[in-house]
Amino acid sequence: MRFRGRVAIVTGGGEGIGGATAQRLAAEGAAVVVNDIDAARAERCVAAIVGAGGQAMASVGSVTDEEAVGAAVALAVARFGAVDVLVNNAALTTRSTLADCAPADWDREFAVTLRGAFLFARKVLAPMTTQGRGAIVNIGSVNALMYFGNPAYSAAKAGLLSLTRSLAVEAGPRGVRTNMVSPGSVRTANPSWTARQQRDPAIFEKLARWYPVGRVGRPEDIAAAICFLASDEAAFVNGANLVVDGGLTAGMGVMAHELNG
Ligand SMILES: NC(=O)c1ccc[n+]([C@@H]2O[C@H](COP(=O)([O-])OP(=O)(O)OC[C@H]3O[C@@H](n4cnc5c(N)ncnc54)[C@H](O)[C@@H]3O)[C@@H](O)[C@H]2O)c1
Repeated sequence: MRFRGRVAIVTGGGEGIGGATAQRLAAEGAAVVVNDIDAARAERCVAAIVGAGGQAMASVGSVTDEEAVGAAVALAVARFGAVDVLVNNAALTTRSTLADCAPADWDREFAVTLRGAFLFARKVLAPMTTQGRGAIVNIGSVNALMYFGNPAYSAAKAGLLSLTRSLAVEAGPRGVRTNMVSPGSVRTANPSWTARQQRDPAIFEKLARWYPVGRVGRPEDIAAAICFLASDEAAFVNGANLVVDGGLTAGMGVMAHELNG
């Protein structure tokens, strides 16, 4: 119960990694505001939390919409009395190569993935610094570290790493810690994975050979790392990027195998 009496907002919290994180935070005692652009997803996640005995409310809207961002933060304060944890999880990727990526695609992917996180962080800083306590966890990606395609999304995630450091340094003295979790491939039903699975139903099994742990990630693997960074156990962790990728970016295992037999 690391989050007993705490209030959390999870963006894009209806499904996938955000949904698993919202449910884990609630299971450990947090009251959770589940933001999502999709009302049905947000409500499903809230129903799952409440059904398990937790506290949650949906806040429907895009992270790109300043009014919706303000409304989500206001809801947390009005209904639950504070904002202690923000998980910036919503992101968008639509184009897998630079050749495919028109300027409007670049802007859309940046607006959700980077600007949305900035808007939410900016909005929670007032309640967090007033109470002198807060934790922000930004969800990055291994795409911020190495080329795996989806260049606009990857550049936005690299920008999010920089935003994480700016927040850590600027808001740290006021009691707000900011960190990043960078997942490798995680089995979710997001639009990119759905398209890849339609092309190749065995995609996750095939990708497993790149992962030293022998499998891709589960949403719960990422939720566990997010909850650690959001909790008081990480009281001295600020500005860190916790890579949760089963060892993918630790080295070139497939290449080494080809080299050495
Ligand atoms: N799945 C992976 O392999 C993987 C790998 C690395 C990083 N990530 C990151 O993890 C996070 C979650 O990914 P996921 O795979 O769980 O995605 P998902 O699509 O399963 O869940 C994302 C949720 O965000 C919501 N959403 C989309 N646009 C939104 C917007 N503009 N405003 C509010 N909500 C919005 C969706 O409705 C959905 O419920 C993202 O930041 C993603 O970049 C995922």
